[in-house]
Amino acid sequence: MKLHPIWQEYPDLQPELAKTLDLMENSVKLKNKPVEIAVMEMVHAGGKLLRPAYQLLFSRFGPDQDREKAVALAASIEMLHTATLIHDDIVDEADLRRNLPTIAARFGNDVAVYAGDYLFVCCFKLLADYAGSLRSLQLNSRSMEKILNGELGQMDRRYDLTMTVDQYLENISGKTAELFALSCTVGPLESGASEKFAKECAQIGLNIGIAFQIIDDILDYSQDATAIGKPVLEDVRQGVYSLPLLLALEKGRSELTPFLQKKDAMTTADSQAVYRLVQQYDGVARAHQMATRYTDKALKAIRKLPADAADTRGELEQLTLRILGRKN
Ligand code: IPE
Ligand code: IPE
Ligand code: MG
Ligand code: MG
Repeated sequence: MKLHPIWQEYPDLQPELAKTLDLMENSVKLKNKPVEIAVMEMVHAGGKLLRPAYQLLFSRFGPDQDREKAVALAASIEMLHTATLIHDDIVDEADLRRNLPTIAARFGNDVAVYAGDYLFVCCFKLLADYAGSLRSLQLNSRSMEKILNGELGQMDRRYDLTMTVDQYLENISGKTAELFALSCTVGPLESGASEKFAKECAQIGLNIGIAFQIIDDILDYSQDATAIGKPVLEDVRQGVYSLPLLLALEKGRSELTPFLQKKDAMTTADSQAVYRLVQQYDGVARAHQMATRYTDKALKAIRKLPADAADTRGELEQLTLRILGRKN
């Protein structure tokens, strides 16, 4: 199966990422054809595989190396991620994902709900089959709870003009960064590293994930859906006030408010006007500075990780910097 072009620069990761995708594909066993086709389409849709990559890289730290287990845990985490994407697109009423129609748009909400459910099942089946201890299951279920709470926090604040940057950071720490934290912590633990070390790795993942979601929210304030593979200028229309807008509100509140008060009655011209104001009041530029600060925190900690022959530290550093500069 074809891997995303990012991995051309990481030849030593490619075989394990390819195995991760194969295992995901082979884990799908369903009698119901529409749900099976939907799940397979998502598996083949060319996701970037960032979380399994972090899982595989971090699992190299620790004395007990079992690469088959590392691949299975990487597949488990990507299946969890894929499930959240399918369900997220139902909630967000999105029509485009990875430059393809979303599962909900193509097959309907019923198939999309079941496809997401099935991927959650696959995630736990792989964990139960391969994890060496119940600790990994515990960490996984705790992360799922935090992801859900992040999403619910975001839902509670929809169209809330009093929302703060701290509330935003709390929501994205849950809905997105938690899965990066999990990806960075389960590997070392399963490879026999100490709880203390695994905790430091989780903190690195959290900072990477926060930067990742800020960049994602910046990409929503762009003009070309095909370039990013998903809809643009959707967050504000849906009442999701993300960092670029929150920062622009600090200086341009009186100009932005009349558009925001229209809520879901906002027209395309209105969201274009919001886009221009967010740019004009430095929302995007300042959000980028914040993402850089979280990336720097992660990089600082990555540079303190133990050195190894495979130069895992170097690869983690390069990948984390690349996320900050990503265009899709
Ligand atoms: C999208 O994540 C969801 C967010 C948390 C913003 P990715 O951009 O990693 O999605 P794929 O898997 O590469 O499509
Ligand atoms: C991403 O949510 C987090 C989850 C999928 C849980 P978003 O709604 O911000 O992500 P995109 O923009 O649809 O990928
Ligand atoms: Mg979404
Ligand atoms: Mg969403």
